Amino acid sequence: MEGVPEDLLDKAREIIVNAYAPYSGFKVASAVRAGSGKVYMGVNVENSSYGLTICAERVAVFNAVASGEREIREVLVAVESDEPVPPCGACLQVLSEFSTPETTVYMVSLSTGKVVKARLGELLPRAFKFRGLGARRSQE
Ligand code: THU
Repeated sequence: MEGVPEDLLDKAREIIVNAYAPYSGFKVASAVRAGSGKVYMGVNVENSSYGLTICAERVAVFNAVASGEREIREVLVAVESDEPVPPCGACLQVLSEFSTPETTVYMVSLSTGKVVKARLGELLPRAFKFRGLGARRSQE
């Protein structure tokens, strides 16, 4: 796939079979390159209590952070449906904690080969940042 980091794509292809999506049937895999250069993976994990479902991207980021990483440099999200999908709002916010607005997000369809590439700052232009209670006090 044109312009997509091959190693991230290979890892996503490898792991998407482990996606646990018995309710939606929509399997997602994510591979992220962290600050150390290592690649971490995730799949969506659904739950019979639907709202407890977690997306592939957050699993990948949390895997990286649990391994000691604190920076996410590149993100790939892969689906089997015809059209690529962007990370959901919750995942974008989680990504923003460890990335910069320049971080590249590759969205790919494994079945059609379609690729959409965007910067995190385009997908979530105004990420929430907690700046401490000082921010609130200054408005009082
Ligand atoms: N999902 C992801 O894993 N990542 C996305 O970017 C979009 C949505 C999952 C959550 C749920 O298991 C299924 O896709 C349908 O929403």
